[in-house]
Amino acid sequence: MNIERFENEDALAAALATRLIEAISRNPRIVLGLPTGRTPVALYREIRSRSQRGHVDWSQVRTFNLDEFVGLGAGDSGSYRSYMQAELFNHVRMTPEHIGLLDGRAPNLAAECARYECAIEQAGGIDLQILGIGANGHIGFNEPGESLQAETHVAELRAETRRSNAGLFGGDSNRVPSHALSMGMATILHAREIVLMATGEEKQAAVAGMVDGPITTRLPASFLQLYPRVTAMLDRGAAQRLADRAFGVSADAGQAPG
Ligand code: PGA
Repeated sequence: MNIERFENEDALAAALATRLIEAISRNPRIVLGLPTGRTPVALYREIRSRSQRGHVDWSQVRTFNLDEFVGLGAGDSGSYRSYMQAELFNHVRMTPEHIGLLDGRAPNLAAECARYECAIEQAGGIDLQILGIGANGHIGFNEPGESLQAETHVAELRAETRRSNAGLFGGDSNRVPSHALSMGMATILHAREIVLMATGEEKQAAVAGMVDGPITTRLPASFLQLYPRVTAMLDRGAAQRLADRAFGVSADAGQAPG
């Protein structure tokens, strides 16, 4: 796994924004897989400001988000659809039909998951998948457990995941839906390239397990060890337990000393 370390989350977000915008200019029809949560907020802020200042052509870019809460959709402030509109889609000139989102209010959730898999395939697959990681090692909403699912599916959220999403629901984890739709492990691992971002000390154990631990359904991100083209971009806190490792060289000037 290629590992890049940064002094703080702003340096990480700046480096990843540069990487994304360069990828869009190399391939204007790129298909991006996008995350939500607290970690990418700085990334989207950076992309917004650069897209407004510069000449990033979003018109042919396609995106697919990783997940959505069951029961929530447009108009629900806690939905990831609303999050993405506020953080990115309302600020860049994407073609609306190019925005791929799961519908948490679909009457038939299994059909909605199948539709999403088809839509990704019809778009030619995901070129660059950006991921966060849960403190429990989840990617998307592929939660730790006895088994994992390959394709987009309905996932039951663990208590710690609901707590970490409470900020979207007035701080009340009881209001966080108990289930979500999520890309599966194969949906994610079929991307042509993956960049995982992790910030803060609360992620250090999950990051250490992802990089050095056994490959286990108990820590879904550990499956990224099997994947040939993954970069983990970490701030100082998230990289803490990897302090003695040799690190790949980051292009970022704000990189933490090795
Ligand atoms: P967070 O979530 O960025 O809110 O910590 C990460 C994730 O669950 O993937």
